[in-house]
Amino acid sequence: MTGFSDDWRTHAAALADRLAEQGVITDPAWRRVVAAVPRHVFVPEFYSDDDPPELITARDPRWLGLAYSDDTLVTQRREHPDQPGFAWSTSSSTRPSFMLRLLHLLDVREGMNVLEIGTGTGYTAALLSERLGARRVSTVDIDPELTDAARLRLADAGYRPSVAANDGLLGHPAGAPYDRVLATVATERVPYAWVEQTRPGGIILADVRPRGMTWAGALARLTVADDGTAGGPLISTTWGFMSTRRDVERPGIPEVVPIDATTVHTRTSEIGSGALHTPGLSLLVWQRLPGVTAFPGRDGTEIVTPDGSWAKVTKATPAKVEYGGPADIWDRVEGAHAWWIGHGSPDVAAFGLTIGPGEQRLWFQSPDGESWSAPDHG
Ligand SMILES: C[S@@+](CC[C@H](N)C(=O)[O-])C[C@H]1O[C@@H](n2cnc3c(N)ncnc32)[C@H](O)[C@@H]1O
Repeated sequence: MTGFSDDWRTHAAALADRLAEQGVITDPAWRRVVAAVPRHVFVPEFYSDDDPPELITARDPRWLGLAYSDDTLVTQRREHPDQPGFAWSTSSSTRPSFMLRLLHLLDVREGMNVLEIGTGTGYTAALLSERLGARRVSTVDIDPELTDAARLRLADAGYRPSVAANDGLLGHPAGAPYDRVLATVATERVPYAWVEQTRPGGIILADVRPRGMTWAGALARLTVADDGTAGGPLISTTWGFMSTRRDVERPGIPEVVPIDATTVHTRTSEIGSGALHTPGLSLLVWQRLPGVTAFPGRDGTEIVTPDGSWAKVTKATPAKVEYGGPADIWDRVEGAHAWWIGHGSPDVAAFGLTIGPGEQRLWFQSPDGESWSAPDHG
């Protein structure tokens, strides 16, 4: 930790105390870990929340305090090559309270081998290394610039876990089998590779959400079974990760689908655009409209599916629905709504996922209950 004074220890201890007081950290071992890991080493510079964002570096008097704040610190931004003019966040150090909540949910304990998907700054890998010993920790990120920097910073802080640059959807077979897999980047499907690389009885914690309607997602806590499948409940969260990039150059945003609005149909609906934002129901909408992208506006929302179908729906009911393309997709939202009301308006926690080879099945109440297989829309 060359070049840094010991002030950070006071900040790190204060962060650990705060998280413990808030009830986020309940395990004393994690409290010790948060107090021991120098987060500032992993965030030598990051962007402010201002518009446009300002780069905050170690020369800024706010830097050290912010490095130990319970905030997500965006460390990398990129434009989409097809949509120049606006930069998206493509890497960050996630807010510590959310990371600690995940580490508790994942039930990480001494002696376990853990794979992290989405190295980012390396801070989470440092927390895991401090707790488990670095030889038990593997971490992968799609961006070699990030893994190179993270490897150096980890070493600077005294940790040498295995850090690899590859697409996290493939996992990291070299370090398998794992007892725990922690995804710190959101995916639309839980890759079967993660299941294959986890021991029976091991746990995968994944953030599953559509890249075009990110609020419709949930955490999936999946236990790997002897038969090679993994299943478990969905856990509601108001917080989620950025979506996976398909390649280094492209932020994990939805691809723009061209729509044909030369023929516009109009009708009314009892269901307004708020249906898309209702936890539990929005999961079902996503399931019925794979690959959906939503564009919320002041008075309503427009949704588009990969086949070019689109619908523009007002918030107020009865809603005005304008739609076009191959299908009336609002009809599917109405179908999801009718099912949801008919089943007592279940919340996210009433659903779960089972992952098998080539299969992702969303189920209601129990793995043997009513279920829907999510087609892979690519
Ligand atoms: C929220 S950040 C992870 C934060 C990190 N755990 C930390 O402690 O700083 C998400 C990371 O996922 C990475 N990522 C995006 N797509 C990926 C993919 N397909 N495979 C692996 N990593 C990916 C991004 O480059 C980014 O660094």
